[in-house]
Amino acid sequence: MNKKAILLAGGAGSRLFPLTKIVCKQLLPVYDKPMICYPLATLMLGGLREILIVSTPKDLPMLRDYLGDGSQFGIEIEYAEQAKPEGIAQAFLIGAKFLDGSGAALILGDNIFYGKLDFFRDALKIDNGACIFGYQVRDPQRYGVVEFDAKGKAISLEEKPAKPKSQFAVPGLYVYDEEVVDLARKLKPSARGELEITDLNLLYLKRGDLNVKLLGRGMAWLDTGTQTSLLEAGNYIATIEHRQGLKVACLEEVAFRAGFIDSAQLEKTIAGLPKGEYRDYLRLVCDEG
Ligand code: DAU
Repeated sequence: MNKKAILLAGGAGSRLFPLTKIVCKQLLPVYDKPMICYPLATLMLGGLREILIVSTPKDLPMLRDYLGDGSQFGIEIEYAEQAKPEGIAQAFLIGAKFLDGSGAALILGDNIFYGKLDFFRDALKIDNGACIFGYQVRDPQRYGVVEFDAKGKAISLEEKPAKPKSQFAVPGLYVYDEEVVDLARKLKPSARGELEITDLNLLYLKRGDLNVKLLGRGMAWLDTGTQTSLLEAGNYIATIEHRQGLKVACLEEVAFRAGFIDSAQLEKTIAGLPKGEYRDYLRLVCDEG
């Protein structure tokens, strides 16, 4: 069944202050492009073309200014406000009308994935239940944490536990069936006043409908939550781009190679770009076909 996508790009950005005083976190640079390009590219590489961007009333105009209606990337972008950061799972209440009964992928606007995305494309094929992922990290207490039994079946999920039961963090990329909005409506705010994504996943776990797939160590899931990790993510992208001479998450390129836009559309975009490295790069992409 066809799925739509929600990209959640709100929040207070408090941990990155003063960087986030004027510009929202998701528009801060990760090397040579705004952060939001990376999760948006992930959705597009998953084949998703109907995308709702949810953000704060203050930041939404800037995001809209940057990405528009998505037609330059051959996708449809809609926008919706989250008045207050009342939790990640609230995205499904805000996006209920947009989803209109279809299943959904949700990605957090500050999550960067680099590597083969087959795990995501496979997850999008599910018709029933939910699919989330596990990724080994050094500091699981900063994330949602999933625990497995001896057979590799997920048995518990905890949000930022003081004593994590495993080293496996749950990245901010989730896939749900069409029941997600109804289930999100059942959630109650947590002690910190948020509709927790972990609580939504727990509802699926309790029903026996939660798939948890481990991402291998060959996959990079990068953090941008602190000044240092933001810098490290930028350096990582710079290293890959310099080595290969290819850009990571260049949205026009992703769209062109996925067949979402043709060379005439790419030419039109290039003509409107300022002279510089980004335009030169797209020129090459277009010429090489
Ligand atoms: O990055 C993965 C982690 O993301 C998961 O492992 C956790 O289970 C999940 O709760 C979340 O943890 P964070 O500590 O990163 O959540 P944070 O509150 O920082 O929100 C993540 C992003 O979502 C952030 O860029 C802001 C945005 N956000 C967050 C909330 C709570 C919103 O746009 N609206 C919100 O209401």
